[in-house]
Amino acid sequence: MAKIAVIVGSVRSDRQGIKVANWIVKKLKERNHDVFLVDPAKLQLPLLDKMYKEIESPPENLKKLYTAISESDGYIPVTPEYNHSTSGAMKNTLDYLLEEYFFKPSAIVSYSAGPFGGVLAGNHLRQVLAEMGSPAIPSQLPISKVQDVFGEQGELLDENYDRRAKRFLDEFEWYVDAFLEQRKKGTPY
Ligand SMILES: Cc1cc2nc3c(=O)[nH]c(=O)nc-3n(C[C@H](O)[C@H](O)[C@H](O)COP(=O)(O)O)c2cc1C
Repeated sequence: MAKIAVIVGSVRSDRQGIKVANWIVKKLKERNHDVFLVDPAKLQLPLLDKMYKEIESPPENLKKLYTAISESDGYIPVTPEYNHSTSGAMKNTLDYLLEEYFFKPSAIVSYSAGPFGGVLAGNHLRQVLAEMGSPAIPSQLPISKVQDVFGEQGELLDENYDRRAKRFLDEFEWYVDAFLEQRKKGTPY
């Protein structure tokens, strides 16, 4: 059992992303993890002015973000693909913090309206996560034609994704456990 933050990458009013994120949250809870859902829409995160560490008296929404990221042992960013990259909302949410991510793994879930499931967004996001000290596991979970994969209430319509999610989360858990054990021995900085 670990603490995992699922980070939503869309703040659009009719976003698909929240369905994907809620599905991943459910999967993690079924595997007995403690889950933080980091939703920049719910948190009403503004475009970055100062990083968290630069703010003298952080407002409540930023404190919640800080708690979720600093207490987590691993991260699952759920990114849409916007113009062959991750979203501004995802990047903005990540940029508030830095050291809090260090020496903890991440695993990328991506999705898009088209057939490629946001793999290009995932590729860019992988570079960002590497820079933030939260290397992404080799596997990615891309969801193609996301509008057909989840129903109106967020129910999964394509059971193939349950199988794919199991393999993906098995791999992620391996990395989370490995990093957890290694962090107990201390970190280089
Ligand atoms: C600004 C913008 C850019 C997009 N660019 C791409 C793209 O490059 N490739 C793609 O497959 N879909 C693209 N789409 C379609 C999105 O994948 C689709 O709308 C998806 O539902 C967006 O996630 P969201 O609903 O959670 O915001 C784009 C959508 C938006 C709003």
